[in-house]
Amino acid sequence: MKILGIESSCDETAAAVSLDGREILSNVVASQVDEHRLYGGVVPEIASRRHVENISQVVNESLKRADCELSEIDAVAVTYAPGLIGALLVGVSFAKGLAMAAKKPLVPVHHIAGHIAANYITHRELEPPFLCLVVSGGHTHIISVSDYTHFQLLGRTRDDAAGECFDKAARVLGYEYPGGKYIELAARSGNPKAYALPKPRVAGSELDFSFSGLKTAVINTVHNAEQKGEHINREDMAASFQSTVAEILVEHTLAAAREESSEKLVIAGGVSANTAIRESFERACEESGIKLYMPKLEYCGDNGAMIACQGYYDFLDGRRADESLNAVASLSLG
Ligand code: KG4
Ligand code: ZN
Repeated sequence: MKILGIESSCDETAAAVSLDGREILSNVVASQVDEHRLYGGVVPEIASRRHVENISQVVNESLKRADCELSEIDAVAVTYAPGLIGALLVGVSFAKGLAMAAKKPLVPVHHIAGHIAANYITHRELEPPFLCLVVSGGHTHIISVSDYTHFQLLGRTRDDAAGECFDKAARVLGYEYPGGKYIELAARSGNPKAYALPKPRVAGSELDFSFSGLKTAVINTVHNAEQKGEHINREDMAASFQSTVAEILVEHTLAAAREESSEKLVIAGGVSANTAIRESFERACEESGIKLYMPKLEYCGDNGAMIACQGYYDFLDGRRADESLNAVASLSLG
């Protein structure tokens, strides 16, 4: 079964064709990041405009690269929530028009479910149930995945997402947007023990996260040093920050794995591309006897392939939308 997946929830216009939910026949991503970088973050109005300009070509290119006519597609899957409302609307409107014109079923896909499904591409043998940590620019969620379309939220951030925290720490250290990968590069030549940073906890919850205190600690340390005319070693701060985030993510997720007696742990989302975080999870899972699954780097960030894969499972589950489908900016999974 061939599913066309369309994604436009943030600053990537993306489309892909999946075969039976596991194989990717094409994966086209038009990134707007160079333009948003000029402003230090995503400008929603610009994102919507660029999606409008790019979407038709991106979808056509994905069909072409898959060597597939629109008539051969079994369903059109599209991200409808959560994300920037104007950006989501472009993908949803385009997918509705395409599905109606081609008389194909329309399948609404939750963006976070898509990130999780990125692992089905990389690990053909992976099947639910499993525990999943989704870490991206907008989300930090610990999720129990009981089957392909049923999810239970066990823990979440109460304030900033981990990726957002990376981007804000990067900004105060003078790195460009999106800063996660620059922190990773700088951290390679830094000492992770140079700066002592806090690992804030949420009262009454072992699994929920709070990243705003860590972000503020980095900002205050840098500003205080500047005011005193002292030197901040950016590499050391990047390494200290990154290892603190890795420890927080691992501690909370492994606590959830113990609570749920999980044998399989999956990580997903843009931040799961971080090598130090991947290695921390590898070590912790090996010690705990848990099998770890991580997406290939190309499927960590936003892409159409993950939507085409989750779209396959949502389609099998009978999920359908009609022309009344609307985009939803904020919607929890499950
Ligand atoms: O999943 P994603 O592409 O978009 C959302 O759904 O939010 O995640 C983007 C986030 C950004 O905050 C970016 O800085 C972060 O993922 N990121 C990284 C790395 N690559 C991307 N964070 C840490 N290390 C990386 N190598
Ligand atoms: Zn995402």
